[in-house]
Amino acid sequence: MSEIKRIGVLTGGGDCPGLNAVIRAVTKAAIFNNGWEVFGIADGYLGLIEDRVRPLRANDVSNILTVGGTILGSSNKANPERFATGTNPDGSPVFENVCDRCIDTINKHRMDAVVAIGGDGTMSGAKPFIEAGINIIGVPKTIDNDLVGTDLTFGFMTAVSIATEALDRIHTTAQSHSRVMIVEVMGRNAGWIALHSGVASGADIILLPEFPYSMDVISKYLHHREEIGRNFTVICTAEGAHEDGGSMTISKIDPTSPDPVRLGGVAHVLAHQIEEQTGRESRAAVLGHVQRGGTPIAADRVLATRFGRHATALLRAGKRNRLVAMVGGKITDVDITEAADKQRVILADNELMEAARSVGTSFGVNI
Ligand code: F6P
Repeated sequence: MSEIKRIGVLTGGGDCPGLNAVIRAVTKAAIFNNGWEVFGIADGYLGLIEDRVRPLRANDVSNILTVGGTILGSSNKANPERFATGTNPDGSPVFENVCDRCIDTINKHRMDAVVAIGGDGTMSGAKPFIEAGINIIGVPKTIDNDLVGTDLTFGFMTAVSIATEALDRIHTTAQSHSRVMIVEVMGRNAGWIALHSGVASGADIILLPEFPYSMDVISKYLHHREEIGRNFTVICTAEGAHEDGGSMTISKIDPTSPDPVRLGGVAHVLAHQIEEQTGRESRAAVLGHVQRGGTPIAADRVLATRFGRHATALLRAGKRNRLVAMVGGKITDVDITEAADKQRVILADNELMEAARSVGTSFGVNI
């Protein structure tokens, strides 16, 4: 039997559509089905570090199912094992291990478990608490869909639908002006958003970080399109895509962040390269954070509700340190440490890539 009476909930890492839907599901299922008290922790692990915790009642989570962002706030900089607390004379950050502060906060509010809604950074951030005997249940979030242990994270499907709409719009203007139009989508080191939105919109070329592109292959493909009477080309590129032998395009380094590299700008690099090498007029559009904002689509609201309910069911069943997951179309759970410090990337035998190739899509590589 469950000995749970009070739980904490936090949202960590970059936000994504559906966070509020999970907070709502966890809170309502905890209160209605189990009679537990729920505490909202502000700004991910930062709220534990700074003891910013507030009670969440059913009314507090009413009317948030459809709302983007997170009512709790989030942070992708607060790694309790390596938290920036100041600045060295040379300007570099001073890092400290502040896990004890977090554990004090959990104990002070007598939380029997914490539901951590986040990506790989949030799951790896849970390790010291698990070692200290605290029960952490993870809920897999990220638009990137790159979490190991689950086939699907909530937020991904909404990001894909936003990117698809953008690509559809780009399609018509590319055609009007006989241009090469490049749309850059997010995803860090994984190309899931690019692959799915590229296929959904019928992009002519899809560039993925997992398969470094060749300018020679791209040039030949553009030439081939012209030969078959197509006067325009739409390219969907992942932000992590890069030329074979080259490196990813970095937009910013944030030394205070556990994952300091911010990608971005490869679409502009490509537009320049294509104009130079082929003489074809090219334009770039970088979608950026628009993919993370706004209301979740219906499928993500449903997934978030199922994930949130499963998190409370695990606690009720006395399970410890599990990550809620979707595997083979079923809601299940795996050891939370499986998802830490790893990324799920696209493999060469991916079936959707095969399907894309069968309708003539190029991945900018000779395979
Ligand atoms: O992991 C989600 C994500 O949106 C990535 O796709 C992107 O590379 C990164 O976060 C951007 O981070 P930030 O919000 O710090 O700019």
